[in-house]
Amino acid sequence: MRRAKLSDLDAIMRLERETFTDDAWPEDAMRREIESPHGYYLVAVDEPITASDAADEPGPALRGYAGLLAPSGSEQGDIQTIAVDPSSRGMGLGRGLMHALITAARRRHVTELFLEVRADNPIARALYDSLGFEQIGVRPRYYRGGVDAVLMRLVVKPAVARPADASGAAGGAGAAASGASGTSREGTR
Ligand SMILES: CC(C)(COP(=O)(O)OP(=O)(O)OC[C@H]1O[C@@H](n2cnc3c(N)ncnc32)[C@H](O)[C@@H]1OP(=O)(O)O)[C@@H](O)C(=O)NCCC(=O)NCCS
Repeated sequence: MRRAKLSDLDAIMRLERETFTDDAWPEDAMRREIESPHGYYLVAVDEPITASDAADEPGPALRGYAGLLAPSGSEQGDIQTIAVDPSSRGMGLGRGLMHALITAARRRHVTELFLEVRADNPIARALYDSLGFEQIGVRPRYYRGGVDAVLMRLVVKPAVARPADASGAAGGAGAAASGASGTSREGTR
């Protein structure tokens, strides 16, 4: 996983159009999101690790992307989008991208994170539920085809640095200070 670059835009748009067939974002909008200083976009890519791999590789394959909007000075942020390539779903990539965005939001001092999800998307809803997002409202018939939007909110708790465990057990101060397991429910996996 790494920060998205403008050179990823073509691949992102291919996956965007494949995934959100009825309501894909226009390319310009996606470009603005990636470029915005208030945004934080990540891609998951297969990239060559060694020079010899690089020689064989046709180029990075995009496995997924996800974006956060967290304007500086605001304590509220939004998960803007997330998509994983169909061939890479069910392997933890979506959860990994979401954890990374939540960690980025926490670093930007976001205390409340919002998102909207189609009511008829049980997979995404299960992912958000498991991360601690709670339903706070519904926008009736918000999406094309008359599908409701479910609004969800996560209270982003600050990472707590605990003193090192004298017994040397894993997951002590290092893990907590990294921000990777800042809230109890995010840390379930
Ligand atoms: C939603 C999406 C990003 C999840 O990505 P993913 O990499 O497949 O997800 P993960 O493998 O990390 O799984 C995370 C959780 O999602 C849920 N989930 C994943 N696949 C599922 C399936 N086939 N059935 C039910 N729940 C499923 C589970 O809660 C899972 O947690 P678990 O593995 O602990 O049970 C992916 O399905 C996707 O791109 N969907 C199309 C785009 C989309 O709907 N985006 C969200 C718009 S709001």
